[in-house]
Amino acid sequence: MIELSSGLLHFPAFFSRAEQETLVADLRDVVTAAPLFTPLMPRTGKPFSVRMTNCGQLGWVSDTRGGYRYQTTHPETAEAWPDIPALALKAWETAGYTHGPEACLVNYYEATARMGLHQDSDEAALEAPVVSISLGDSCLFRFGGTQRKDPTKSVRLHSGDVVVIGGAARLCFHGVDRIMAGSSTLLPRGGRINLTLRRVTQP
Ligand code: SIN
Ligand code: FE2
Repeated sequence: MIELSSGLLHFPAFFSRAEQETLVADLRDVVTAAPLFTPLMPRTGKPFSVRMTNCGQLGWVSDTRGGYRYQTTHPETAEAWPDIPALALKAWETAGYTHGPEACLVNYYEATARMGLHQDSDEAALEAPVVSISLGDSCLFRFGGTQRKDPTKSVRLHSGDVVVIGGAARLCFHGVDRIMAGSSTLLPRGGRINLTLRRVTQP
């Protein structure tokens, strides 16, 4: 384990190749039940470059009607989200938080997708960590402090890596600068999947 900053923990190769393949198979079922959708920026209506879906009791969605929020149903199908794959919960255990996650956001990055610097602050349970799982192509992950103007650093995240965003880093600014297309053979059509497990409500 590498402490990238206080509370920001990187576990390289947390999942074996076989486990990564199981997770991808589980995620195929998730996406069949809850298709990927393109979220929109609340104010501008600009589409995100990532497509997303969720599993768990709650899912994170964003559009111009309701802004950033968690809800119990898929925004297009209006169905409940499917369950979080059991193997994904193994990563949550690294964080040592007593209560389970309620949401697992699934982001799919094609080769040109990125994620601007932001804080994960839509959760009431800010004492709970956010646990991130990377699958497929590697990415350049950027992280800084709790102020947007704070200096940033970057680290490459590879398939199977886990990052815990907790403690003093829970509200750190972070984002994905770019995807290294072709860096992994896990996903037949390439790209990167990121899962983030979150506790949303106060236990
Ligand atoms: C996110 O911040 O929601 C995603 C981070 C990542 O893709 O590694
Ligand atoms: Fe985030």
